[in-house]
Formats: sequence, C-alpha cells, structure tokens
Amino acid sequence: MSHLAETIQIRNTMFKNRIIKGAMSEALANTAGQPNSLHLGLYEAWAKGGLGCAITGNVMVDLRAKNEPGVVGIESDRDIEKLKQWAEVGKRYGMVQLVQLSHPGRQCPKGLNKETVAPSAVPFSPSLALSFGTPRELHEDEILDIIQRFAKAAQICEQAGFEGIQLHGAHGYLISQFLSPLTNKRQDQWGGNIENRMRFLVQIYQAVRAATSDNFIVSVKLNSADFQRGGITEEEVISVFKAMDEAGIDMIEISGGTYEAPAMAGSKADKRKPSTIAREAYFLSFAELIRSQVKCHLMVTGGFRTVVAMNAALDSGACDFIGIARPFAVETDLANRLLAGQDVRYGVDKIKTGIPMIDKMAIMEIIWYAAQFKAIAQGKRPNPKLSPLKVFFKYLKGNLTAVIKGQVNSRKSA
Ligand SMILES: Cc1cc2nc3c(=O)[nH]c(=O)nc-3n(C[C@H](O)[C@H](O)[C@H](O)COP(=O)(O)O)c2cc1C
Repeated sequence: MSHLAETIQIRNTMFKNRIIKGAMSEALANTAGQPNSLHLGLYEAWAKGGLGCAITGNVMVDLRAKNEPGVVGIESDRDIEKLKQWAEVGKRYGMVQLVQLSHPGRQCPKGLNKETVAPSAVPFSPSLALSFGTPRELHEDEILDIIQRFAKAAQICEQAGFEGIQLHGAHGYLISQFLSPLTNKRQDQWGGNIENRMRFLVQIYQAVRAATSDNFIVSVKLNSADFQRGGITEEEVISVFKAMDEAGIDMIEISGGTYEAPAMAGSKADKRKPSTIAREAYFLSFAELIRSQVKCHLMVTGGFRTVVAMNAALDSGACDFIGIARPFAVETDLANRLLAGQDVRYGVDKIKTGIPMIDKMAIMEIIWYAAQFKAIAQGKRPNPKLSPLKVFFKYLKGNLTAVIKGQVNSRKSA
C-alpha cells in the first residue's frame, strides 16, 4: 500500500491520508477581508478530490496589515457564521482544515495599507524597494497586541469548528522577520540572540494554546533557511525547531526563503545536487537532519510531483506529511489521483507574460492563481494553460472600470 494512503492521528483528529494542500492565498475576499461562498466552493472542490487536509491561504490577524488584496482577516467573531460553513465543508468529506494565521510585517506592497510595521526599520533590496516600502519599527505594546491577535483568531477558528491552525512563521513574514538577524536589529528582549528573536513566536504559541482547547491542533510553518547571506544560521533554525517541539507544537511544516530570496518556489533551491533534484522536494535534506532531534510531526512542502518521490520521503521517515501547493490550483482531484498511483500532471512553474516590466510585478502570480481559484469556486474547470497576459489585461480592465465608476459616482454626488 502507498504510504500516502496511511491514516494518522494528531490529538483527537484523524487524518485519512498523508496528503496536505499547502497554504495558498486565495485572494477571493472583499476589501473588508470577509470569507464568502467562493471560499466554500473552492474548499469543497478540494475536499471532494480526496485531500486528507487543507491548510488555508494565509489569514490576517490584523486587517491593517494585509499582504495582498483579497485576503481573509479574522479579528473578531464578525464572520463566525461563514467560518462555520467553511469548517463544515471539510467535515462533510473528512478533510481536516488548518487555518493559516499570519501577519506579513514588512512584506506588504506599497499603497495597500496605511503603514507597514516590522521588528526593525530595514529597507528592501533595491530590486524590491519599488514595490515594498521601508517599515516602521514596532513598539513593545504593539508586539504584545499582535501576540494576542493570533490567540484571538485561533480561538475564533476553534469556535467555528476548524480542527486547528498553522502559524505562518516562514517566507519572510512577521514571525520569520523576528527570527532573522537581517530583519531584526532590535536591542530589547525581542532582538539580539536567538532566544530573544524566537520570543515572539514562542509567546504567540503559548497565547494560542492558552486560548484554545487540548483537542485543537497547533502547527507552524518554518523556514529551514532564509537563503540570504547573514540570515538565520542552521544552528539557530535547529534551536527554534527544538524549542517549538519542547513547547508542544503538533506539527512543523518545513519550507524556506523570503520575498527577497524565494526558495519556497524552488528558484534558489534549484542549485541543488542532481541526487537531491531526483528526490524533488526542495527541503527534504533539512527534514532528514531535524527528524531525529524533534518528536513532533513533520511536513515537507515544495517541489513534490511524483508518487515515487512522495512515498520515498514518507518511507525514509524524514516526514509524516507531504505538502503540495501549486498543482492543486489546476487539479482539484489531485489527491485521489496520487492515491491511485498517478503523478502530478501540471507542475505549474513561474507565471510569466514574457513582458519583463509586468513579470516583475508581485501581483502577476497572485492574479493568475486567483483566476484559477475563482473558476474552481464557481464549479468551472481550472485551466493550466490560462494565458498570464490575458489574466493581466482582465485585471487592468477591472481596475480601470472601478476607477472610472468611482470618478463618475463622485462627480454625481458632488
Ligand atoms: C498563489 C500562491 C499563494 C501562496 N500563498 C501562501 C500562503 O498564504 N502561505 C504560505 O505559507 N505559503 C504560500 N504559498 C507557498 C506554498 O504554500 C508552497 O510553500 C510553495 O508553493 C511550494 O510548494 P509547491 O512546489 O508544491 O507549489 C503560496 C504559493 C502560491 C503559488
């Protein structure tokens, strides 16, 4: 039997198989960050497709800090009824759902939020500074407020019926910014040595645990490396994994990279040895390194495309779960197909129009995937061959129409 089909229990929740859809921002919410029927449709399609578990796209704990347009935010029980329906969609088909809670810190595109905050006021590298501004350093009372926001959001997720949450501690988002010496230059108890730099994550974890029941799954997605010179060292990463393990975390998802060095999508990681490429997953060697040092469940995401490689990773004991993201945007029944021994059909790569000026925009990937998610949510088939240029012009047209409508309305009301 394929290891992918093996069941596994965490706390009192049974996972019917080892396949987890990694978090992908759906970009389907309104400007107020509310979930809607499109979220229900999308997750129902994945649930019907045989997934053991879906991790939602990142959900903001503070709507003043959005990483992109269309993200969901949970600050209160404002949307509890819709969240209950969302959780119910998974239960109906036996698909566990973990809500990914997130604060993007400095990784907010210019113009989206009133201001951008981070552990320290560190500017972006010149190639990204056009799209991302220099953040303001957080005051201690704001840090404590954000910790409580994670706890509150987790509590609401449990109230809604989700089986657990995942803290987004990877990819250069706020938790990851606190961990990295490149983005955390603080001199107080939140910066300096690794014990101080992980304080934010550890306190979020403790606050979440205190706000939720013993049955609630709490996991975290962490970078195995920043892939940036001067970033967090391997020794420090290991100490963070060990600290979270000792604190009682249920599962750690292993990823890597930041907006400045996007290894999570394979670009930096592709400078690997041929033997590593054959194993597909970008961060499997780190999983092998950490496996004997922590007791918690491990999930590896990034690059998995064949059943042979997935089974080999599970068989080696390096991880307990296989995380797959991009292919699910174009193949909703992928889990069932993998369980039947068939490989990923569409290994979606970088989304490019071929026009460098457009391709440099962070928005390009978001809108291409959002178009797929919207189609799935409306019961249509996703289209792996969807033209990025077509998507871009549709987006442009939509924005222009909104601007013109806005001008006409303001003239009418003047
Ligand atoms: C459109 C899109 C949105 C994503 N959003 C998130 C997110 O909200 N949180 C997160 O941790 N990772 C996010 N990711 C990264 C994926 O979870 C995953 O780590 C990455 O795509 C590598 O896995 P894959 O090779 O199976 O696609 C996103 C990826 C894509 C393509």
